[in-house]
Amino acid sequence: MVIMQIKNVQYRYHDGTDALCSINLDILKGEFLAILGQNGSGKTTLLKHLNGLLKPTAGEVLLDQKTLTRHSPNEVFQKVGIVFQDPNDQLFAPSVWDDIAFGPMNMGLSGNEISQRVNDALIMVDMAPYAKKPVDALSFGQKKRVCIAGVLAMKPEILVLDEPTCGLDPVGVTSLMTLLKELNQKHGITIIMATNIVDLVPVYMNRLAIMYQGALLRVGSPEDVFSRIDEIRHAYLELPQIAQLMLTLRDEGSISMDSLPLTIGEARNYFIHKLNDKYGGAPRRVSLVK
Ligand SMILES: Nc1ncnc2c1ncn2[C@@H]1O[C@H](COP(=O)(O)OP(=O)(O)O)[C@@H](O)[C@H]1O
Ligand SMILES: [Mg+2]
Repeated sequence: MVIMQIKNVQYRYHDGTDALCSINLDILKGEFLAILGQNGSGKTTLLKHLNGLLKPTAGEVLLDQKTLTRHSPNEVFQKVGIVFQDPNDQLFAPSVWDDIAFGPMNMGLSGNEISQRVNDALIMVDMAPYAKKPVDALSFGQKKRVCIAGVLAMKPEILVLDEPTCGLDPVGVTSLMTLLKELNQKHGITIIMATNIVDLVPVYMNRLAIMYQGALLRVGSPEDVFSRIDEIRHAYLELPQIAQLMLTLRDEGSISMDSLPLTIGEARNYFIHKLNDKYGGAPRRVSLVK
């Protein structure tokens, strides 16, 4: 089911920069969609159209089949939650609790409902022990989680995140992506995430849209989009590292394959299969040291 439609959206900044040119994209309910593109390709500009922070110069954005401008701003902010790239742009209240409570308070909810929502959101992002902490005393990764909690407390249908892994260490990236996957799969929240890290896409996302110079170059499953290697390179993106390794092995004539493995799991299955074919039975342990 289509929950949001971006129809022929163009956007020109005041200085004349054409940041989006005729974007058409349907957002499907329950999906985890990546918007992948190099810096300056228009990802942030596109995301800001999803909750009306920017209004299209031409075209329209529809939420539940109704143009965004025909929804009340509060309705849009409640349904579509945006997490900005830099948590310091988003957090402003003195304590974690106050920051997360801000959205529900603006919705005019009762004190009990506000407390319930803040506590639930803190648990969802695994930050319950930090409720009383000053925001300034948090690590960068913790700040990101508080930003996400602030949005979750509004019970959004759609969660939009702008390069949320930026600035996190590798463990922080995995734990954030695991959280997002859980919010998507367990809580049914539709997630749209801008990123320029291709390796994350086949592991976590169902679908991706490639942006290049303000246009959508291709939308599809990771298998489909990453098989179009020339397009990926045209957009100044790389293939996932595992896919690149598999292609290198293929081009050297070391292996042959029908479809391109994109993740460690897929490559592992491929090699186990090949080893089984070659040796039969269980795969043999291959020594890395001669
Ligand atoms: N406030 C602004 N004023 C003028 N041009 C802008 C502004 N913000 C972004 N741009 C330009 O719009 C284009 C797309 O930028 P952006 O959406 O931030 O891309 P991305 O998020 O993919 O890095 C770039 O050429 C950028 O320089
Ligand atoms: Mg950006």
